Amino acid sequence: MTTVSTTAATHWERLWTQGRRYRQVDDTENGLLEDHLGPGRDRPALDIGCGDGSLVRRLAELGYRTTGIDCSSSAVALAAAQGPGSRHEPVWWCMDFTTDDLSVLPEPAYAVITCRLVYRWIDDKAAFLNRVRHLLVPGGIFWVVTEIAGRRAASDPLQSLAITPAQAELLTAGWSAVHSADLDVLRCYALHP
Ligand SMILES: C[S@@+](CC[C@H](N)C(=O)[O-])C[C@H]1O[C@@H](n2cnc3c(N)ncnc32)[C@H](O)[C@@H]1O
Repeated sequence: MTTVSTTAATHWERLWTQGRRYRQVDDTENGLLEDHLGPGRDRPALDIGCGDGSLVRRLAELGYRTTGIDCSSSAVALAAAQGPGSRHEPVWWCMDFTTDDLSVLPEPAYAVITCRLVYRWIDDKAAFLNRVRHLLVPGGIFWVVTEIAGRRAASDPLQSLAITPAQAELLTAGWSAVHSADLDVLRCYALHP
């Protein structure tokens, strides 16, 4: 298994090896995903920060040829260990999306790029979004699931999981169409180039 040694990789690898786990994709979120992305019909999809791979497996079930990438080698190992689960066996890569050479990815461009509970943690969000745009085919969709500000009580320490209004504005700027759906503390965005 390849490993990466960026600051993000060191941070996330520690959390995964300590046993930290993240909110699972539930039926409601699955329904939103399916409504916004539609059937895969063998088109390529890329999940950035795939963690244990639950979203990747869902995309594969929808018929996407999916690649899951994560900067934590332990997360990638966990994802790969779960087995295919559908006829579209996902591909797993350990890489830091913000720094690594994206030309090593299996496809030059993707019909769908997803990013769930990751955007909040990206330091240079403008550069990150530029890299995403370069990998999306015309007519593609960038699917982002993130916690947004104002959903939790002011006293809730988990408030810090949310993106700020300015970060949401940066995320949604410059797309030809922006659709969103709310799910308790989360917002799902379907961004069209
Ligand atoms: C909060 S977890 C979410 C995992 C998964 N997307 C989910 O919804 O369960 C964030 C994930 O993003 C990964 N990640 C963070 N920054 C990354 C980067 N620059 N490149 C690749 N993966 C990254 C972390 O290793 C971690 O697995």
